[in-house]
Amino acid sequence: MRTAKRLDEVGFSDIVQIRNKILELRAAGTPVHAFHGGEPFFETPEPIKAAASRAMAENQTRYAPSSGIAPLREAIARKLQTRNRMDVAVEDVIVTVGGAHALHAAFQTVLDPGDDVLLFSPYWTPIRDMIVMAEARPVMVPTATARRNGITACLEHFSTPATRAIYYNTPQNPSGLVFSRNEAEEVAEFAIRRNLVVIADEAYEDLVYEGEHVSIASLPGMAERTITAYTFSKTYAMTGWRVGYAVAKEPFMTGLRKIVLYSTNGVSTPTQWAALQALSIPESAIAARREEYRRRRDLLVKGLNELGLECQLPAGAFYAFPCIQNIHKESRRVSTLLLEKAHVATIPGVVFGAQGEGHVRFSYSVSPQLIEEGLEALRKLLG
Ligand SMILES: Cc1ncc(COP(=O)(O)O)c(C=O)c1O
Repeated sequence: MRTAKRLDEVGFSDIVQIRNKILELRAAGTPVHAFHGGEPFFETPEPIKAAASRAMAENQTRYAPSSGIAPLREAIARKLQTRNRMDVAVEDVIVTVGGAHALHAAFQTVLDPGDDVLLFSPYWTPIRDMIVMAEARPVMVPTATARRNGITACLEHFSTPATRAIYYNTPQNPSGLVFSRNEAEEVAEFAIRRNLVVIADEAYEDLVYEGEHVSIASLPGMAERTITAYTFSKTYAMTGWRVGYAVAKEPFMTGLRKIVLYSTNGVSTPTQWAALQALSIPESAIAARREEYRRRRDLLVKGLNELGLECQLPAGAFYAFPCIQNIHKESRRVSTLLLEKAHVATIPGVVFGAQGEGHVRFSYSVSPQLIEEGLEALRKLLG
């Protein structure tokens, strides 16, 4: 027996192997300073949980429209109009099983076998596999080079006649980089000139500490060529609920609706009522959380730099991505060393593409106490 050939080149995330090693250490009674995760440090807010319970008590437990319940899609459209300054109607919104599902549906909607997709690297690991699953080719655009030498020149350099789309993630995982408005405009101008689709990933839109978050679909001429993926996971600490959404115009919305219909037939109904409640959380509460993240970021980045692990201040998301080359140039070796000798769990940068080599990723979505303890353990090892 064999699986479909199209899955041969699709990988399983390395991050799973790291998680297993951490579980082994913990099972042996070793406390681990866990910086490897990608989840908010706080629990899902009570009103969101209460909305799900209420929905169940009121028997909101039957099939919902596969694109999402009307009140949620309407609330999402209003949020996109006000917070993201996008010109959207309710028909442009589809509810998905998290941001991951929105992205998968976007790649499946847009790509034909043999197409090329430009993606800024280092990148969030599953993206490569999602592109490969659509039988297309991921083409890495080194972000550092692009920012240094010019985004347009770099995109030009890596594009081919087969280029069909650009994956554009801001704020970025793993680097925490936030593209500026000028950079967004350059990407948009290139996409329009070359008639490309942009698949935008704004999972961390509410975690920007310096600069502004610009939704590329809000720029002139971009709404009709952009599919944007959003998630409730990060802003509202809802990683396990699996709810997100995609925004697109036709013909892409019909494509997304087909993929969602035949993959999941929509998101669990009580979860959608919980998501609707999440959207009524005031922006002031989101801003207060952002400040808590900022404190953690400043603490970790200062500590890493003091240890000689050179780290730029990430402008967004909740990851620090220090250079570890003065320990060893291979990030897998460094990550293993930090875990085995200091019980500090990180993710090797190479997992995020060749351009991530020489770095490891720390999440600072942890308690300030854990940051202090982790830095102390690193000081003992490296100091
Ligand atoms: C860059 C990026 N995009 C999208 C996602 C998708 O998250 P989810 O599927 O939980 O909504 C993540 C999660 O880690 C991410 O880091």
